[in-house]
Amino acid sequence: MTTLIINIQELLQVRENGILKVSGLEMALLPSIKNAYLLIENDLIADFGPMSHCPKINADKSIDATGKVVLPTWCDSHTHLVYAGNRIQEFVDRINGLTYEEIAQRGGGILNSAEKLNATSEDEIFEQSELRLQEVMKLGTGAIEIKSGYGLTVEGELKMLRVIQRLKQKYPIAIKATFLGAHAFPAKFKENHSGYIDLIINEMLPAIAKEKLADFIDAFLETGYFSVEETEKIMEAGKKYELLPKIHVNQFTAIEGIKACVKHNALSVDHLEIATDDDIQALKNSDTMPVALPSCSYFISIPYTPARKMMNAGLPLALATDYNPGTTPSGNMNFVVATACIKMKMTPEEAINAATINGAYAMGVSETHGSITKGKNANIIITKPIHSYYQLPYEFGSNLIEQVFINGNILE
Ligand code: NIG
Ligand code: FE
Repeated sequence: MTTLIINIQELLQVRENGILKVSGLEMALLPSIKNAYLLIENDLIADFGPMSHCPKINADKSIDATGKVVLPTWCDSHTHLVYAGNRIQEFVDRINGLTYEEIAQRGGGILNSAEKLNATSEDEIFEQSELRLQEVMKLGTGAIEIKSGYGLTVEGELKMLRVIQRLKQKYPIAIKATFLGAHAFPAKFKENHSGYIDLIINEMLPAIAKEKLADFIDAFLETGYFSVEETEKIMEAGKKYELLPKIHVNQFTAIEGIKACVKHNALSVDHLEIATDDDIQALKNSDTMPVALPSCSYFISIPYTPARKMMNAGLPLALATDYNPGTTPSGNMNFVVATACIKMKMTPEEAINAATINGAYAMGVSETHGSITKGKNANIIITKPIHSYYQLPYEFGSNLIEQVFINGNILE
């Protein structure tokens, strides 16, 4: 099956040599071809270039993209898309003046979602979660990471990861699963932190590894949640099962967690709303991708990750949604890109790099996703007719996507 897309107004994120990420000043550069064609063969990108070089072939399907922009699908490297129910009441409580931390201290927050998750059947969680997955695919997400972390019991964590496994089997997009048993201390272990860490290391991890349910390991490294020392134990335990860390860190406070994550070769460090000069220093010359989650900052009114400061220091940056019922009940990467431009003052080029190739890197799929490169998966977005790609963040509330291709097939 071949699909030839012709007369593309502008083809974005064209990378001849499959780079894995972009850093620092390079983030401002988004290579593109104006008046371009793109050839898809089966599930892969076979060829592309200016229309003057367009091959004269009889493709099975031909699409005229006059006036439209084509770009790789979004790579959302940080979500909690599998959950039960919602936390709408906490949203209203925050409007009435409570903070996220105050709600958590009252037993709400993550523990609220854990109670709901443990009371809901695997099938029901699957059904709720697949609706969210279908929605984000239509919004242009072509690769996604999904975490556990609302079980906080052996059975609950396994149940979440099995749901992620079923989503992987049923849906064509790349899905990576992250084990986040260390998301919060359950009430039962409030005074016995080492007891819960032991449960994670000695019971949850071996059971998860046995069923091959996780690709990465995560922890909420934060004041009042998991300390640097506790997170290091989790990262070390994960290493025994070849689970690279992707860690929640510096959401509310800076407690030297980033340095520890870099030391343990974390693939990514996520949130970083509070990032000190020392944190930025620790990330320099490392393989760890910093990930910003601007919809979370927007929704719970906390600072935005200092993107400019990080890129000026030569660091790469990825953007992800953090889709979850508490801090970000939205999986819309288009909104993330727009918010990064509007609130973090990232340029459209920087934001698109962060949401495609760097997002792919942050979930270990940049060999196959995140750019228009021959041999990569044919995961692409075709926009509606637009003036230029600047219109994507500019019209932040509109859906400017006309079609999404996943592995060479149009998403219906
Ligand atoms: O990334 N900060 C930790 N975890 C999630 C929120 C989880 C929740 O509130 O349910 C986050 O924001
Ligand atoms: Fe998160």
